[in-house]
Amino acid sequence: MAIKPVIRMGNPLLKEISKPVTEFDSASLWSLIEDMKDTMLAEEGAGLAAIQIAVPLRVVIFSVESNPRYPDAESVPETVLINPTITPVGQEKDTGWEGCLSVPGLRGLVERDTSIRYQGFDPYGNPIDRTVSDFHARVVQHEVDHLDGILYVQRMENMQSLGFLEELNDSGAMNSACQPCESKQAE
Ligand code: NI
Repeated sequence: MAIKPVIRMGNPLLKEISKPVTEFDSASLWSLIEDMKDTMLAEEGAGLAAIQIAVPLRVVIFSVESNPRYPDAESVPETVLINPTITPVGQEKDTGWEGCLSVPGLRGLVERDTSIRYQGFDPYGNPIDRTVSDFHARVVQHEVDHLDGILYVQRMENMQSLGFLEELNDSGAMNSACQPCESKQAE
């Protein structure tokens, strides 16, 4: 297990469609998950897709518990989600700020489904089936997009909101809830 470099926008791997995991509970899968957890923790991310550490498999992890980047976010249990599918629940959509470890320093407004059902598997191959809303739903949609080669900036309807976190904070464009992340260059 190790902290791996997070590849950034411009690396062609981030445009690839990741492949499904075919063997669960394998040494290589557990090793990948450990690397992803170590990397996400070190970078203080809310989530990470395997492709962000250059492994093109349909594995995402996410966790939102006392994350200094999202001090007001509701807690999301640490989840390893493999071969996920997403189904929107209802028509409602929300616009909210997103950042990405592969697009360091920036934030932009993205419209997402407010409520979704997501299904997939844990590392043992046990099914996961949850219906969630708000920030939890946003994180999962963002991470699963990575598996299809999509970064949040490609989901932005109005590029005018895209900016560096520090500038957005200084200008008051974002609410001031993100004070702890102001001092962080790397995300
Ligand atoms: Ni991301």
